[in-house]
Amino acid sequence: MLSHAEVQAVGNPPFSCLDAGCGEGYYLRQLVDAATDTQPLSLMGLDISKWAVLAAAKQDAKQMPLSSWVVGSNAHLPVQTGTLDSVLCMFGFPVVSEFARVLKTEGVLLQVEAGTNHLRELREVIYPTLKPERSTETEVPEGFTHHSRERVSYSLALNGSEEIADLLAMTPHLYRASAEGRARAAALDVLNVTVDVHVAQWRRL
Ligand SMILES: C[S@@+](CC[C@H](N)C(=O)[O-])C[C@H]1O[C@@H](n2cnc3c(N)ncnc32)[C@H](O)[C@@H]1O
Repeated sequence: MLSHAEVQAVGNPPFSCLDAGCGEGYYLRQLVDAATDTQPLSLMGLDISKWAVLAAAKQDAKQMPLSSWVVGSNAHLPVQTGTLDSVLCMFGFPVVSEFARVLKTEGVLLQVEAGTNHLRELREVIYPTLKPERSTETEVPEGFTHHSRERVSYSLALNGSEEIADLLAMTPHLYRASAEGRARAAALDVLNVTVDVHVAQWRRL
């Protein structure tokens, strides 16, 4: 999760922002909380999962009157070319050419991706062996410049099987792990996990 300050750094309001792969809309709600009263926001949350979009829209309620929630794919965004100030892609499935298409010149793409140690302790429990680590070096995407990259890393204590199950359910590991792996996680009462993410900002040329 990002702090309010990090969410605020996404762009200077007023701006239009698409969360591409918004899940249940957590980050757009953070953006609304971080915004000032005098600056309007125009927000769209898009996800390929209709269940995620329904959950986001339900939580939205009256809090985000200018937001829209859309079932769709990052591969074909229902957005006009060159109209957005910002695109967020948090732990998502980026289609950078499409993000470049919808952003204005100077618009910002903010990407958050898991680092090599992200949730390592959980992965060590659910998998017999961990895959070799991939390089996290990222090239500047075509059509973008002004690369800033920050690594955010801290330890998180999970107390109780419910918190551990909630975390596992937020990750793709829930579906990738075997039944035995999930059972090993379910048997835990306490788990300290490393949060290790890369936050990259790219500016549209
Ligand atoms: C790991 S979740 C991250 C959700 C949210 N961004 C967050 O950080 O809480 C990845 C999300 O991407 C969505 N997704 C997968 N493929 C997608 C695509 N092609 N276009 C849009 N969303 C997609 C999934 O349905 C899921 O909600």
